[in-house]
Amino acid sequence: MDVLDRIKELKEEKNAVILAHYYVDGAIQDVADFVGDSLELARKAKETEADIIVFCGVYFMAETAKVLNPNRKVLIPYYKAGCLMADMAIAEEIKEFREKNPEYAVVTYVNSSADVKAVSDICCTSANAMKIVESLDAEKILFVPDKNLGSYVAEKVKGKEIKLWSGYCPVHQKLTPEEVKRVKEENPDAVFVVHPECRKEVRDLADFIGSTSQIVRFVKETDAKKVIVGTEKGTIHQLKKLRPDVEFIPAYSEFVCDQMKMITVERLLKALEREQFEVHVDPEVAKSARRAIERMLEVR
Ligand code: 13P
Ligand code: SF4
Repeated sequence: MDVLDRIKELKEEKNAVILAHYYVDGAIQDVADFVGDSLELARKAKETEADIIVFCGVYFMAETAKVLNPNRKVLIPYYKAGCLMADMAIAEEIKEFREKNPEYAVVTYVNSSADVKAVSDICCTSANAMKIVESLDAEKILFVPDKNLGSYVAEKVKGKEIKLWSGYCPVHQKLTPEEVKRVKEENPDAVFVVHPECRKEVRDLADFIGSTSQIVRFVKETDAKKVIVGTEKGTIHQLKKLRPDVEFIPAYSEFVCDQMKMITVERLLKALEREQFEVHVDPEVAKSARRAIERMLEVR
């Protein structure tokens, strides 16, 4: 039997749900029950009734699903698929900061470990970061770990003092304004959409800035016939399905998160067959991390 057919069969047999981020391989997106960005996937993980959640994304995403579903089995097809940005913040450093600066509220991007979430006041994703910061009474905010998303929020939200952690996504950071200008010159009729994880000089050249799902929604409605995509290439798989009439150009040719690409169909099949690799989060850490994630999910 073909690998994809076997995945579908096992999924039914085991009452499993497959959640996939836009950055994983197209074949996995096609076999998944739901494809979304971090916020949508966190909401789906909270709503599911399945016995097993197979999370096709990087580790922090599967960990978030586990934190929200302590009594369900959560699997990630490859446990070494991590997020390079998430590794740029550790809980001890945040705790030290909080002790020295008790007047700050800590807003943590979901691209972080459960340990870091556990010592934060509230989480956010790239889709709701502005709303989350605005929802807080505190005037002083520490934004962890993405300095680019944090600086974007700081530009938009007035009346808050936002201190930035020094993390970033190497995949989005790699896109330079020079490269964008070159691609724009080659495609003068194209619109340029960008993820807020890109640096400010790149965002300043954009026609639209948004999380992955916000980019998808923008493209659905656009009149443009050419779009330069300033985020991970996997997103183009969904964009092409939605708008076969539009030409999509990656903002740079290797706009690829290698970590996301560690999730392959073969590993997904093994995950379902062997029920591996199970994600575990220490119950005490999970309790505190859940508070920060659920507080985020309450902000609409
Ligand atoms: P989204 O919030 O758009 O899902 O972004 C997640 C991510 O890892 C981007 O690099
Ligand atoms: Fe992490 Fe960047 Fe990969 Fe997103 S694209 S998962 S932020 S390394």
